Amino acid sequence: MSGVTVREARAEDAAGIARVHVETWRAAYAGLVPDTYLVGMSEQGQALVWQRLLSSRGRESVLVAEGATPDGPQLVGFGSFGRARRGTLPYKGEIYTLYVAGDWQGRGLGRRLIGGMFRAMVRDGLPDAFLWVLSSNPSRFFYEAMGGNRAATRQEAFAGTLLDETAYAWPDLGGWLASYSRTSRSS
Ligand SMILES: CC(C)(COP(=O)(O)OP(=O)(O)OC[C@H]1O[C@@H](n2cnc3c(N)ncnc32)[C@H](O)[C@@H]1OP(=O)(O)O)[C@@H](O)C(=O)NCCC(=O)NCCS
Repeated sequence: MSGVTVREARAEDAAGIARVHVETWRAAYAGLVPDTYLVGMSEQGQALVWQRLLSSRGRESVLVAEGATPDGPQLVGFGSFGRARRGTLPYKGEIYTLYVAGDWQGRGLGRRLIGGMFRAMVRDGLPDAFLWVLSSNPSRFFYEAMGGNRAATRQEAFAGTLLDETAYAWPDLGGWLASYSRTSRSS
């Protein structure tokens, strides 16, 4: 998609990431996670969390999508990834988050961000990957469209409730990237 750049996040992106984070959580998770949690989220609070993460040289990497708008460049999507957090599934890499702002969804940005994350994982020596998504989130079909295999289910305690989650896995990121570059018009 023209007019959108996908790049590594910088410390000054924290506020933009937080804005997309809170907006997409409230839109995507209403009715799926407790309202009290969604109401309690704040852009300021999330910005502090992302600022800490971006300024630490931890194991988590972040990509952002920046769109051209009449008011100048605006952060419109992000994804974070790194080594698998818990060794319960036999994959080395994990996508921790992936969100595209409402007005920018359905324009190929999710595909570009996931492709960028997989490319970085292969570069970092992570040959395969998985992620967890709420089973009741219709966005999980995006991961099926991206070739992810359903790999596991679990129940996670979150904000005083139990959530059903599904894991999607990509057992061969190199193969995925080869076919991705053959078919992608926009990477
Ligand atoms: C899920 C999300 C990241 C996808 O990003 P996007 O930019 O909207 O998706 P894209 O435009 O790149 O779509 C790529 C392909 O996936 C398909 N797709 C996207 N969302 C889909 C869905 N919900 N169900 C089925 N297919 C979907 C598209 O049709 C497209 O297919 P095509 O390339 O064959 O035309 C984004 O919509 C989002 O952030 N949603 C809300 C928040 C959320 O729930 N995030 C996931 C948290 S784990």
